[in-house]
Amino acid sequence: MSSLHRREFLGSSLGGFAAAFAFGPSLFAQDTVTAAAIADAASLSFAPDTLFLSWQQDPTSSMTVQWIGSETPADVSVKFATVDNPLWQLAKTITKPFSTTDLKVFRTQLTGLKDGTEYQFQIGNAAKIYRFRTMPQKATNTIQFVSGGDAGVDEHAVKTNILAAKQEPYFALIGGDLAYDNGKSPETFIKFLQNYHGHMIDAKGRLIPMLSCIGNHEVNGSYKMKRDKSPNYLSVFDNLFPEKTFGVLDIGDYLSLVLLDTDHLEPIAGEQTSWLEKTLADRQDRPHLMVANHVPAYPSYRAMEGANGGNGTGHEQRVHWCPLFERYNVDVVLEHHDHTFKRSHPLTNGLKDKNGVLYLGDGSWGKLRAAKTPEERPYLAATSSAYHVTVHRLEGEQRFHMALEESGKVADVCMTTNKRPARRG
Ligand SMILES: [Fe+2]
Ligand SMILES: [Fe+2]
Repeated sequence: MSSLHRREFLGSSLGGFAAAFAFGPSLFAQDTVTAAAIADAASLSFAPDTLFLSWQQDPTSSMTVQWIGSETPADVSVKFATVDNPLWQLAKTITKPFSTTDLKVFRTQLTGLKDGTEYQFQIGNAAKIYRFRTMPQKATNTIQFVSGGDAGVDEHAVKTNILAAKQEPYFALIGGDLAYDNGKSPETFIKFLQNYHGHMIDAKGRLIPMLSCIGNHEVNGSYKMKRDKSPNYLSVFDNLFPEKTFGVLDIGDYLSLVLLDTDHLEPIAGEQTSWLEKTLADRQDRPHLMVANHVPAYPSYRAMEGANGGNGTGHEQRVHWCPLFERYNVDVVLEHHDHTFKRSHPLTNGLKDKNGVLYLGDGSWGKLRAAKTPEERPYLAATSSAYHVTVHRLEGEQRFHMALEESGKVADVCMTTNKRPARRG
């Protein structure tokens, strides 16, 4: 039976089923297709409210569909096809436990996709059709994505979601403190995904994939913990971080995104720093080389010095990572955690230097604090106490970074250009 005929059939049999139910159990018992109709009804209307897209492999040729929900009699395999030429293919969905609940994570990986192409997909026999696009292999046109951090689940996070989606980004990068589930509130994590699902859809109806790095509020204990202390976040983001909560995503021939863990599950010094050095050294010929981490090396709210001369916020990054960002000419470091908008000066060893590294932050997708001013912190060029998301526009060898406040007002615009010797020609 074709899917169209099957729908017509289901439509009529479900009408019969509803009528039978309304007139009492005697008719209900005579309906020999009742069990099948129940399963089919579940299939037809199946539309999980936590469904979102992400990547675990090459974003030019794959897409990962995930949602969290109850076990269901519905068919949960995923059919997918390009929008232009709907020759449907089928992908299997795997399930695994979700955190401390009886719910499951459903995950389907779509592979073998064409780059820079519009796709559609359906779950089983469900009526709803979703859309997405793959990343292009070559940046022949402008590439635009959004970033931010520290979202939570209140109305400000939702407003920023709506503003972010309006920018028609290829993806959203959320740099830690996504839901504020603290590793122990699965319902909070589900609410975050419901908000993301509800609003992170662009004007053309495409779902916007989510990338992330880990923050302290993903972890029960915040710092220096083991992976089992982040059961909500890792239940879905273990696709991106299967063993370690740091990694790199290379997109086409133009962009590398390095995602780091600021000591929540992985120490900064040692293995992660060695990996970072090699990762940056291997990518010197990339036109766009960007880093995202949660706790800022150059904070806009917290202090760089601790009490009684101790180490303050970002100390370990400044010791271990910033020299590498400088040596390997990282284009921009996206930082979060302090809940403000900030743009640093280009910095070398903490001092203003036109050949230094730019730090953008500081995570106010849905959380806010009063930012310190550039007068108070000379390494900062601009700050504001506003909810914001940043739009990154990659154009050839340049990048434009535009911070948008919750109202849509442009808070700041800046540009970065390549300084890597391999790119300078
Ligand atoms: Fe935060
Ligand atoms: Fe944080």
